[in-house]
Amino acid sequence: MQIAFVASECVPFVKTGGLADVVGALPPEIAKLGHDVTVYLPLYAGVRPHLEGEWKYVIRSITIPFQYYNRFVGIVDGGRRNGVQYYFVDCPEMFDRQGLYTTRTGDYPDNAERFALFCRAVLEATKQLGVPQVFHVHDWQTGLLPVYLRTLYYFDPMLQSAGTVLTIHNAGYQGWFPPVTTERLLFPWDVFTMDKVEQFDSFNFLKGGLVFSDMLTTVSRKYAEEIQTPEFGHDLDGVLLKRASDLRGILNGVDYAHWDPATDGNLAAHYGPEKLDGKAACRADLLHAFGLEGIQDTTPVIGIVSRFASQKGFDMVAQIAGQLLERDVAVVALGTGEPFYEAFFRDWAYRHKDRVAAQIRYDDALAHKVEAGADMFLMPSRYEPCGLNQIYSLKYGAVPVVRATGGLDDTIEEWNAKTGTGTGFKFAGYAPEALLAAIDRALKAFRDKKGWRKLMRNGMARNYSWEQPAKEYVEVYEEVARRRS
Ligand code: ADP
Ligand code: GLC
Repeated sequence: MQIAFVASECVPFVKTGGLADVVGALPPEIAKLGHDVTVYLPLYAGVRPHLEGEWKYVIRSITIPFQYYNRFVGIVDGGRRNGVQYYFVDCPEMFDRQGLYTTRTGDYPDNAERFALFCRAVLEATKQLGVPQVFHVHDWQTGLLPVYLRTLYYFDPMLQSAGTVLTIHNAGYQGWFPPVTTERLLFPWDVFTMDKVEQFDSFNFLKGGLVFSDMLTTVSRKYAEEIQTPEFGHDLDGVLLKRASDLRGILNGVDYAHWDPATDGNLAAHYGPEKLDGKAACRADLLHAFGLEGIQDTTPVIGIVSRFASQKGFDMVAQIAGQLLERDVAVVALGTGEPFYEAFFRDWAYRHKDRVAAQIRYDDALAHKVEAGADMFLMPSRYEPCGLNQIYSLKYGAVPVVRATGGLDDTIEEWNAKTGTGTGFKFAGYAPEALLAAIDRALKAFRDKKGWRKLMRNGMARNYSWEQPAKEYVEVYEEVARRRS
């Protein structure tokens, strides 16, 4: 089959979160199964260093009309890697910026125009470079592509049989814009209704994608159920419920070429389930990187790597911060995001320099070191569509302590010391006491060295490669193609 991925992030070119890991790893896996896969991405400032030598434009200029003006977009050949063809949508006035969606002071004011242009440019580009059987779009940034396809491009003879799949990586970000967006993007006003893109008087990109895509997927089975309820649907539960028969939950895989302590180039030592010794050197290296050299071997180190967003549950950590330090633990945190959480971690570390350390930045190499050096990995998320860090943690023997939601619930099984089964610790409800109780269970288990090694090995033996999920995606593509033929 011919599949075109259309997304706003992709490893190794550009990343703010797990979406980039998925769009980096899934296309090559689909290509391995014998399919013809193309990936379209915006050409942000951060992408430029990845494009070696002279840029090769495969299309020099596509006209993208707006209400009062046109913009002109080029398509740059990003080359073939791992069996996948990459193309970049070049429009410097829209994408040649350091941030992807936001600056320190808030969202870019022209995000509707930027991502509408991106979607429309991709549709136009495929008419010259090859129309796929299925467009696979991701999150709100590309939610408008299916809307274009079934409205303004409805009668295009080249695009008529192309199908669409939308994957929801996070229903909490929807791309809300004022009603006037309808005119600015040249949509007829009848698109701005409750059964299409309108939601509480906003033009909602994700909703448009949910309504107009042939099939929908999300990144774990549990989250597929959760988003059909008011608690997790972010007001889109009604639409999702209506489309339940077209919605599949496919758990993300992880790319073990990048995330395996036996081969990871960022680590002080290598290790694996058979030979755990290297982990001690990684722990020492981590403590050194965070300035916590004084921590005793018997003191467990809790690691955190995260976007600091309210989704991630750190308000609960703030509430138990004092009680947690009554226990024998050390904490290392790496993250950036909302000022409230950055300030909390900075302040906590400042007040307890000997046991808590925080690095407020984005640092891929350090993220790997945290996985390898930490004894436990904390993810108390309010909601978590899939979550990749807990899956990396399993592989690295950093035992996950998680809230039982979305992909966290699907991937982590509570440790049972009697039977020696399980891979981590999880708690239900959204309560600081429940979080603390789960950490206490982990601390107790840590004191039994033999049991702890078994627990680590249980997690390290789990396999979350992309092989199986890739097959499930192909089934979805086939279903879409069948419906469109
Ligand atoms: P989300 O996509 O919601 O942020 P995931 O767990 O799916 O959550 O993926 C997060 C990804 O981003 C992981 O690969 C993680 O290592 C990475 N990451 C998050 N924050 C940082 C950071 N400050 N430095 C380096 N990597 C980070
Ligand atoms: C989103 C979710 C995260 C998921 C990632 C990749 O950013 O917050 O849970 O793992 O997308 O699908």
